[in-house]
Amino acid sequence: MGRIFKGDGASKLSPSYLPLELPHREQHINELLKIFSPLLEREKQIPWAVMIQGPSGTGKTSVVRAFFRTISSIASKKGIKIITDIINCRFIASDFSLAQAVALRVTPGASLRGFSATEMIQNVIEYLRNNESYLILALDDFDSYIARKKSKSKLVYDILKQQEITDSRMFMIFIGVNDYTMVFEESWIRNYVWRTKSKFEPYSWNELKDVLGKRAEEVFESGVIDENELLLASRISSKFGYGSARYGLELLLFSGMEAEWEGNSKINSEHLRLSLARLEGKQEVTELSDFSRDLKEFTLTLANIFEEENTSYLTISSISSKYKKEKQKVVDYLNRLNFEGIVDLLELNGDVYVGLFLPLRFISSVKQRDVNLP
Ligand SMILES: Nc1ncnc2c1ncn2[C@@H]1O[C@H](COP(=O)(O)OP(=O)(O)OP(=O)(O)O)[C@@H](O)[C@H]1O
Ligand SMILES: [Mg+2]
Repeated sequence: MGRIFKGDGASKLSPSYLPLELPHREQHINELLKIFSPLLEREKQIPWAVMIQGPSGTGKTSVVRAFFRTISSIASKKGIKIITDIINCRFIASDFSLAQAVALRVTPGASLRGFSATEMIQNVIEYLRNNESYLILALDDFDSYIARKKSKSKLVYDILKQQEITDSRMFMIFIGVNDYTMVFEESWIRNYVWRTKSKFEPYSWNELKDVLGKRAEEVFESGVIDENELLLASRISSKFGYGSARYGLELLLFSGMEAEWEGNSKINSEHLRLSLARLEGKQEVTELSDFSRDLKEFTLTLANIFEEENTSYLTISSISSKYKKEKQKVVDYLNRLNFEGIVDLLELNGDVYVGLFLPLRFISSVKQRDVNLP
């Protein structure tokens, strides 16, 4: 045991861990720094509310946390008091509990009894003013909150309105999957919210390869995962996880555990395939049942070749030379299997590489059940 993960490695694959670097999100972090940089110069021409929007697992929360990490460290060096806070709104039921959460973070000792939500926020702003401090408050999963409240958050309205009247001390970052500003009834709020220029799009497989590769260095002992296996992991995360980095990290975690249970000192492609099956909630092959006998045979042979070669990717030519049938037949079969989500076809440097998504163990179990197969 313990040959796969570094000491605290496994915990660095959990969503709460903020890695040292966020590949392909540097620009996003810099944009936030740029938006808020006037604060560091003790100026205040800053949008009062910034919106961050994009699909799940594209790094929205991490980017804000990384931005907080950097701006806090610059501010403290400059002797500027900036409080940063991120509140997850998924479990917040009302404006009242939202205001309470903000007040508890900014003025932990103060009594909140008897105050309304708006008054609590007024107290927070008062505190900030008296202490020459600023608050950058990120409301994470804000769209789920707004959707539950059917667009009527008086508190958010109040906070934004107060910024207009008083000197601004409190800045908001709204984070969500959808463009929730559209659900605000007041159109002025919609126009008020600044949208970041850097978009949060699903990661491409090459981006995921960088993200997962960097994380693997932090998490695994050296030599645990090779380039080809990283490639398979990123292709899986791109196809099955729709470009979510979270999916890829979970895949790495499961695969690392799989390898460790097995007493292996490396993560191999079968570990990745078994983890994929687990993430997709699959326990056996169901796809193959309506395949023609020839296609079934081909799939079994393919699995054997992968087993023998013990690799994540093979070229089409090496497969057809081993299958001993004409190449076109092999290409046809592979196209069908690609369509079924069983193999990965990847064009790279003028060659077509074939990867396998279904665990070899699943495929060989078909053979045991189907006595007519060779
Ligand atoms: N560029 C990146 N580099 C390294 N890790 C990343 C990157 N982007 C995302 N991650 C990791 O992927 C996971 C999901 O990221 P994050 O929580 O920031 O996504 P999100 O866009 O907020 O998703 P959701 O909408 O589901 O909340 C986290 O574990 C995070 O560390
Ligand atoms: Mg998030």
